[in-house]
Amino acid sequence: MLVTEKIKLLNTISEVRENIKEWKAQGLKIGLVPTMGALHAGHASLIKKAAESCDKVVVSVFVNPIQFGPSEDLDKYPRTLDADLKLCEELGASLVFAPTPTEMYGSGVHSNDFFTYVTPPFFMVNKLCGKSRVGHFDGVCTVVLKLMNIVQPDKAFFGQKDIQQKIIISKMVEDLNIPVEIICCPIVREESGLALSSRNKYLSEEGKKNALVLSKILQNVKSCYHKGITDINALKETAFEFLNENHELEYLEFVDKETLEDKKNVDDNTMALIALRVEGVRLIDNCYMN
Ligand code: PAF
Repeated sequence: MLVTEKIKLLNTISEVRENIKEWKAQGLKIGLVPTMGALHAGHASLIKKAAESCDKVVVSVFVNPIQFGPSEDLDKYPRTLDADLKLCEELGASLVFAPTPTEMYGSGVHSNDFFTYVTPPFFMVNKLCGKSRVGHFDGVCTVVLKLMNIVQPDKAFFGQKDIQQKIIISKMVEDLNIPVEIICCPIVREESGLALSSRNKYLSEEGKKNALVLSKILQNVKSCYHKGITDINALKETAFEFLNENHELEYLEFVDKETLEDKKNVDDNTMALIALRVEGVRLIDNCYMN
């Protein structure tokens, strides 16, 4: 008989630690899926993957204030905890950890309660999304390390959609000897090609159509590469024919898929990454060129 265990929603670090202690004593393998909630099919794919390869899956739902810049959408960021919990339960997660900012950072990051940040390598953060989001990856690495220390997972699951984040976290795990395996899961797209994102909720129907330009540009540079064009400037040029007044391009870059180093010419180890705004909403996407 299949016994479905009811999912637990916990808000405190000490309660999570108690559960983890029991599971570890039983020799169970733990998977962590860190999220900021507003879960969609992209997150679902991470949770499913975690449930396939771990005995217990912990999903953290925490809109991490320290990874948002002063002009970013922290207050506006969608919060849908009831729906998130339901989805996590359906997908076989055992625990949702949804702490308050006070639980994670005491009375705030500029107070006596919280001082220590993780600073990822400058050469990985001074480009792509890190260029316009100064301090963002410090905030991401800091919260992810805290979550890893709280949950002590065997595996942690991240989406390829935020590939810069995934590469920076892998470097942190390597550099700081964190005993966790990082699993990267492919981008989930709508049938139209639009990569799923919690921020898609901010787009109108028209905006969603305009947002297809990200995947179209990526598909096009990939097919140009396959036809033999390796020159980055020539590939960048091809993007302009897709752009109009509804698009505000932030970057289209070509980097090494493991290290994020800039490429002079595209090869099979290259990724293309794009960020642009539609209706003021910042959207990102990427693809492997091979
Ligand atoms: O990718 C995200 O949703 C966040 O950056 C993460 C990894 C959950 C850290 O807050």
